[in-house]
Amino acid sequence: MNDDSSLISPSISDRVSENQTPLKLGMMASGSGTNFEVVAEAIATGQLNAQIQCLIYNNPGAKVAARAEKRNIPAILLDHRQFNSREDLDRQIITTLQQYEVEWVVMAGWMRIVTSVLIDAFPHQIINIHPSLLPSFRGGHAVEEAIAAKVKITGCTVHLVTPEVDSGPILMQAAVPVLPDDTRETLHARIQVQEHRILPIAIALAAQAVRANQI
Ligand code: GAR
Repeated sequence: MNDDSSLISPSISDRVSENQTPLKLGMMASGSGTNFEVVAEAIATGQLNAQIQCLIYNNPGAKVAARAEKRNIPAILLDHRQFNSREDLDRQIITTLQQYEVEWVVMAGWMRIVTSVLIDAFPHQIINIHPSLLPSFRGGHAVEEAIAAKVKITGCTVHLVTPEVDSGPILMQAAVPVLPDDTRETLHARIQVQEHRILPIAIALAAQAVRANQI
């Protein structure tokens, strides 16, 4: 967890904790899993009133699986290459999430498009993190595209998932500068510091808003 973790507002998590049972989260990730790690750590340190029921990952050998296993969180491989269609994969994701009694889904670096099959099964209860200030730079190459477009500021967005890719209601955003010598790696690292800061807060805010019937 990076040093910015201290910025997770205790007041937000306190409000969510009051009189409420922990959110049952299902995490979905494809790669390294640093965002998975910060959510797990926010829970472990009492900053986020939730529990991770399971991790679904799609790439064999993804580092995120080891992170989950280290914390005794069930890690289930659903390799998209083994399914005939996106919908077939989504049906298996739903079965798995239901098996682990998941209420909320967090796509933390899930690099596959999901369909209405999954979205309809968890209405307003799927969150995604994306490495740009949406609506700019949707899709799988957001960091490179920000550099190519020569923007001076980019960032990250946490939003609810809707059928149109990277387009659902925005929960939180954080901005970072794009520096003249930035590569994809240096800029992505700067963005990830902010991702790690806002993702746990956004999960708490989303749950609070839905429970209050505000979204
Ligand atoms: C994150 O930067 C996230 O924003 C991005 O994948 C990375 C995963 O990092 N997601 C997307 O690009 C989704 N379109 P992590 O595995 O270290 O959490």
